[in-house]
Amino acid sequence: MTTGTIMELSPLRADHPRLGPPPFGRIVRSTPHLAAPLDANVLHALDGALASHGLLVIEGQHGLAPAMEWSFISSFPWLDPDYTASLRTADAGWWQFPDCPMVRRLGDVVDESGNALGLLNRLGYEWHTDGGGATLLYCEQAPESPPRTTLFASGMAAYAALPQDRRPEAESILVCYSTRFVTGDTAAIDYEAGVRMTPNGLRLAEPARPDAIRGRRGKPPHARPLVRVHPRTARKVLWASPKNMDHLEIAGRALSVERSRARLEKLLQYGTATGDTALVYAHRWKPGDLVLMDNRQILHSTTPYENDRYAHGRQLMHHISMRARRPQEGWTDVGVLGLAG
Ligand SMILES: [Fe+2]
Repeated sequence: MTTGTIMELSPLRADHPRLGPPPFGRIVRSTPHLAAPLDANVLHALDGALASHGLLVIEGQHGLAPAMEWSFISSFPWLDPDYTASLRTADAGWWQFPDCPMVRRLGDVVDESGNALGLLNRLGYEWHTDGGGATLLYCEQAPESPPRTTLFASGMAAYAALPQDRRPEAESILVCYSTRFVTGDTAAIDYEAGVRMTPNGLRLAEPARPDAIRGRRGKPPHARPLVRVHPRTARKVLWASPKNMDHLEIAGRALSVERSRARLEKLLQYGTATGDTALVYAHRWKPGDLVLMDNRQILHSTTPYENDRYAHGRQLMHHISMRARRPQEGWTDVGVLGLAG
């Protein structure tokens, strides 16, 4: 399929020969190297492809510097680089590039003295979204074998996979988030604080240690509808991050924390099963890969990190998560809430 004559889009590779490609995502062929300023027509085509397909894979982008990645993602008109830059420069940590703190380093790569250079997320499977904007992941370094993978799923496909008789219930659910059980920081820091997920990545199994949460200034409790409407495609999306959930409210009634976790796990499992399914795409990273995802429709998950068992090399990823400009139609928060028991 082509987008005019500007670029060629191909389906993502199927994980298993028996399965077709997933019902989302495209590989973008014949993209110019992103180090050069982007032609307005190419940007327009990429923006349209991102909204239509949710996930774009651009290969062969070797030698891309963090500032180039930042410039690339900043050029999408619906994203808000100013807000994101102010956030990232205010909380700059050792895992951010000193000359471009909006870009984080992820992975198990170390410097000559053996010091970690990136945030290492050992949570394993953990389905989530990075907010309501877009995320860029760029692979600078990755082992060939065994490959490091990230899983992607479509909230649209997950909604479509819900049995018809479960959809009205799903549409009446508010997912309430808080920092009662997690640090409110990145998943790598949650892991260090003792957070653990169930093996399918759909339910919080162990909360953060109380001492790791105490004294932190987390976001106030807030809620999001489980089913949201994508502002560009107007399609319904199943959208939630189980790790950060406090509880569910169904038709105005709060469920207990335990029942909430069980219910959300059940609803999300349709589109995100980590086993043999046509609805999940596992991207195997190789140097020069750049992946762009629309967080208003794509959920993603890490995979168990076992690299240090192998002598095949380490992984270094660049990560930018950018907020969308506000307001986005149909994409507002519900507001600050009280917490259920
Ligand atoms: Fe993420």
